[in-house]
Amino acid sequence: GDAKAWSGRFNEPVSDLVKRFTASVFFDCRMAEQDIRGSLAHAKMLAKQNIIGAQDLADIERGMAQILEEIAAGKFEWSLDLEDVHLNIEKRLTTLVGDAGKRLHTGRSRNDQVATDIRLWLRDAVDQAIELLGSFQRALCDLAEQHADTPMPGFTHLQVAQPVTFGHHLMAYVEMARRDAERLVDARRRINRLPLGASALAGTSYPIDREFVAQELGFEAVCENSLDAVSDRDFAIEFTAAAALVMTHLSRLSEELILWMSPRVGFIDLADRFCTGSSIMPQKKNPDVPELVRGKTGRVNGHLVGLLTLMKGQPLAYNKDNQEDKEPLFDTADTLIDSLRIFTDMVSGIRVKADAMRDALKQGFATATELADYLVKRGLPFRDAHEAVARAVREAETRGCDLPDLPLEMLRSFSELVAEDVYQVLTVEGALAGRNHIGGTAPAQVRAAIARARARLA
Ligand code: ARG
Repeated sequence: GDAKAWSGRFNEPVSDLVKRFTASVFFDCRMAEQDIRGSLAHAKMLAKQNIIGAQDLADIERGMAQILEEIAAGKFEWSLDLEDVHLNIEKRLTTLVGDAGKRLHTGRSRNDQVATDIRLWLRDAVDQAIELLGSFQRALCDLAEQHADTPMPGFTHLQVAQPVTFGHHLMAYVEMARRDAERLVDARRRINRLPLGASALAGTSYPIDREFVAQELGFEAVCENSLDAVSDRDFAIEFTAAAALVMTHLSRLSEELILWMSPRVGFIDLADRFCTGSSIMPQKKNPDVPELVRGKTGRVNGHLVGLLTLMKGQPLAYNKDNQEDKEPLFDTADTLIDSLRIFTDMVSGIRVKADAMRDALKQGFATATELADYLVKRGLPFRDAHEAVARAVREAETRGCDLPDLPLEMLRSFSELVAEDVYQVLTVEGALAGRNHIGGTAPAQVRAAIARARARLA
């Protein structure tokens, strides 16, 4: 096979097992486009600084253009013997353009090269995820608007707590997605730094221009310490942590969708295209998509722990351990992007069963807090009101009815402050409309929250 780029100082070739074990080309070839972009910027700088000739640059540009075409056409032959994406491309370049190809690596190392490639790759993935988080929020807002007035039980401990609107419940996820996007925007600032110029670890004695390369590649600035530039992957860990939080939020929503779609709850139905059937039970329609997203959250969490663990024992600067950063990182980005795409589409296809939501409100004394607040407004200290209403709830439970079904005389037996107007506050609509402050569930506030979210996203 081909002699390795570094085989000059060795007496024997690596064994086939070691070759396969140390190679990364079968996964890092995903960064081919970024690798070429980085090389072109580096070559342009070398020529500008008279470190290589203008003809060398022209040859490199011509060769790289052909390689890009070969890759796009699926005709590029990746070789295990050439270890990784960097050496595969460099070797092909040299085959195509000769000596200019051999000059490309001047003042550079695979260590700063790979760190640059990952950052370029991740920057694109982050931009895609931020964009998708926007679409996801817009889809949530659209559904929330249709259900700004639709009452449903709000739960704590999965027990009926107080009425909320379905729109308000959905807007909670908009807030989560908003923070998720902010985290990615913030992580992007630190991803967007140029490692090239650090070379292997100590910098280079060639008169390079790092600022120029940074500008060519759209990096905000250069990494300011060469040892740090080639060795740390904290930017990848940050991204994965942000992704794990997105997935955690999607997983919570998944859990709710699954629960709501259970016939025992029956709050929603998911469009058929997100569900699958059973090969044995003909009646089944299973919420596979949210279940899978809930499951995939585990693998992203695993990647986060994997990357943290990968980093923690490494002395400065570059170590081969870092080759292990790519598969978890790629899988995190793939999982994140696919999950966001599918969720955006799925949210638009949710069919809401408003009657079932309203029925559920009748079973759990959802307006008990309303009654307590009513008594407080008539002068009873809150703790005493709480006690009076608790006794009323016990009575209703014994009778198998809801609070508004208790006759006035009965309600008055728990507190003389109860009057005829009590029944207005015991209605669901009354309870909802009363929570009319920013962040509250009153339909007017839900509409205001939707308007704010849309303005932010515009
Ligand atoms: N494939 C390597 C990686 O992913 C590229 C850098 C290799 N550098 C080295 N000195 N072995 O990290």
